Formats: sequence, structure tokens, C-alpha cells
Amino acid sequence: MTGAGGALGRELCLEFAKLGCAVACADIVDDEAEKTVNLVKEKYPGVIVRRYHCNVTSTEDIKLMYHAVMKDIGKVDILVNNAGILRRNVIQKLEDDRIDRVIDINLKSQFKVSGESEWASCTLKMMDQLVLHGLFAYGIDGSPIPTGHDK
Ligand SMILES: NC(=O)c1ccc[n+]([C@@H]2O[C@H](COP(=O)([O-])OP(=O)(O)OC[C@H]3O[C@@H](n4cnc5c(N)ncnc54)[C@H](O)[C@@H]3O)[C@@H](O)[C@H]2O)c1
Repeated sequence: MTGAGGALGRELCLEFAKLGCAVACADIVDDEAEKTVNLVKEKYPGVIVRRYHCNVTSTEDIKLMYHAVMKDIGKVDILVNNAGILRRNVIQKLEDDRIDRVIDINLKSQFKVSGESEWASCTLKMMDQLVLHGLFAYGIDGSPIPTGHDK
């Protein structure tokens, strides 16, 4: 789970733990991911749960995360590309650097985490693997109403 320290990531980690899944909690913000790990441990003591530091825009971080997860847990059946940012502004007012950050974190990371690391060969070996993408909050129509979070 990328973005495991955030709102949806934390709830999803708890839901997967409830189902008995071993959970790999990755986030760029270590203490929030740690809170998720502690919550999972508290509610589901029998479940394997680990924290990983990972900036999903960093190929190096992704590779390190991959190797650490493989060492600790052994395989990945479900990869949830949940890490992302929401930018509160009408699209016409988004500055270039903000657009770049949204594209890097919300879009490019999905390719990097799913494909540019060795998850790809893992996926080919394990045809039962599932990859879930969080992606953007809004589509073609957008929303002029500021919503969500801005970090
Ligand atoms: N909450 C909503 O209404 C909503 C709607 C549609 C889509 N989404 C998407 O769902 C996902 C989760 O939303 P949320 O509400 O839980 O957001 P959130 O801000 O609570 O959590 C996002 C998490 O992603 C992490 N993150 C941000 N940049 C990162 C990076 N570069 N590397 C690793 N981790 C990083 C943050 O630290 C945070 O823990 C996001 O991708 C968001 O865009 C949310």
C-alpha cells in the first residue's frame, strides 16, 4: 500500500489486515505510516505488518521498497498505488510546478511503482496479482469547488 499513512491508505490497510493479508505500509511520511502499522498491530495482532519509507517519485526508493518487501513478506498479491496529492484550485489557476508535482506523484508514480521496478517481473511470474490505482480525483469536468487536502 503506497500512501499508507494517509486517510484512505490507513483504512485500506486495516481492511486488508481484517481479511488476513500481510500488509506492507509504504509512505513518504514515516510517522504516519508507523501509526498505521501500530493500528493494524493493535486491531489484528496475528497479521504481518511492516513499514517502508518510500517516495513514489523516486525510482531508487521504489527499488529499495521492493527488495525489502520481498525479503520481509516474500510476495505481493495486491499492489495498491494509493499515494497521491490533491491540489485545491481551479485548473486554470494551477501553477506549472504544482501541475508537475501532481503529474509526478499521481500519474508517473503509478508507472514507476507498477512497472519500472521489479514488480513487473513479479507480475509476470504471478498472473494472479492485482494492481489498484488511486489516480486523480476528477476527470474531464473537473471541480471548481476546493475539496480534499493540500500538503
Ligand atoms: N479523499 C478523496 O476524496 C479522494 C478522491 C479521489 C481520489 N483520491 C486519491 O486517493 C488517494 C488517497 O487519498 P487520501 O484522501 O487518503 O489522501 P491523504 O492525503 O490522506 O493520503 C495520501 C498519502 O499519500 C502520501 N504521499 C504523498 N506524496 C507521496 C509520495 N511522493 N510518496 C509516497 N507517499 C506520498 C501522503 O504522505 C499521504 O499519507 C490519493 O491518491 C488521492 O488523490 C482521494
